[in-house]
Amino acid sequence: MPPAPADLVARYGSPLYVYDLAVVRARARALAGCISYQPFQPLYAIKANPCPAVVRAIVAEGYGIDAVSPGEVALALRCGVAADRILFTENNMTDAEQAQALAQGVLVNCGSLDRLERLAKAGARTASVRFNPDVGAGAHEKICTAGPMTKFGVHYSQVDQVAAIERATGIQVIGCHMHIGSGILDAGVYARAMAVILQVAARLPNLRFIDFGGGIGIPYRAEQQPMDLSALGAKASELMAAFAASYGRPLELRLEPGRFLVAEAGTLLTTVTSVKTNPDTAAAKGRTYVGCDTGFNHLVRVAMYEAFHRIDNLTRPDAPAAEVDVVGNICESGDVFARARSLPAPQLGDLLALRDAGAYGTAMASTYNTRPLPAEVVIDGDQVRLARRRQTVDELLEAWEW
Ligand SMILES: Cc1ncc(COP(=O)(O)O)c(C=O)c1O
Repeated sequence: MPPAPADLVARYGSPLYVYDLAVVRARARALAGCISYQPFQPLYAIKANPCPAVVRAIVAEGYGIDAVSPGEVALALRCGVAADRILFTENNMTDAEQAQALAQGVLVNCGSLDRLERLAKAGARTASVRFNPDVGAGAHEKICTAGPMTKFGVHYSQVDQVAAIERATGIQVIGCHMHIGSGILDAGVYARAMAVILQVAARLPNLRFIDFGGGIGIPYRAEQQPMDLSALGAKASELMAAFAASYGRPLELRLEPGRFLVAEAGTLLTTVTSVKTNPDTAAAKGRTYVGCDTGFNHLVRVAMYEAFHRIDNLTRPDAPAAEVDVVGNICESGDVFARARSLPAPQLGDLLALRDAGAYGTAMASTYNTRPLPAEVVIDGDQVRLARRRQTVDELLEAWEW
């Protein structure tokens, strides 16, 4: 029996992030199982949740790693991932970061022509290139990573310039990559972008893999339908099989999901620290604010992307429903987890669960308001392990020069 959330909080404190590895493994298998094309190599976009226990669980399912910074590369290496199973999708990297990646033996996935040229100049024999297929998608404009208004990738129409750099420098572009956005639930938009990327790929003679990126969403809201994985897998497999036949040799297919693997595995547990109801004036309408001991510093998705997280009152699930605003402890009016949410009326000391918080939760957390990061624990069957201890105020203060 996995431990009860209240017991976890009694032991590790509140607020607390909890990740269930059984869910992570189930998602990793579901995704890998939807692709019939071979060879297929899934990567985990480690940015979604870099907790080492989570990373190791996914790697044990046969995944490689997509990293986007030297820190993420270091974390993957320290998790025991071999350098040749890590793709470094750079984004305005420095020359020093490039030198480090080359020394580590990690393949760089270039997001610009000038980076590809500098990689060649530095002696890299191989590279991957991220293309912008001009088809973008995502649950919010801030997580749409392709199309005319994004900084990412080489525009697909510039593929001949990529091929020209290959010819001029001798560097081989072995990977053709896209990542069009995050939180996508419609397989159709992928199919359109994949078709563009395959047209691009046809103009590159040295490819070993095609990477269709990540971006698979999850149904945060009850009324949302999950991504039709079998439709996505069938389309990707069919397109790749046709492409490989025309290309003349088999190419590896890659996908690099983040959110899909970890979002539903994570919960942010928080304790109610204040409940107040404003007067029933025309403006305030008797709003009830339920204040918690966490805030957007620990889960920024609602404030940043207007995201939705289900919230459960774990202490009194059967209490009569009340319409409340669930808010955090950060000094910003935007520190709101839910507006006018119907919940079993929370009372002081109740334990709330913010669901589906396993992706881009602590990964994007900050210490704003000089508030330490929460502890993180991992559940594996009936075992619980502390994955990251709660930060202390002293640790925050020690970083300053006094
Ligand atoms: C290059 C790259 N690949 C993969 C991902 C993973 O996206 P998601 O978590 O939506 O699957 C991201 C996320 O932004 C990314 O930037």
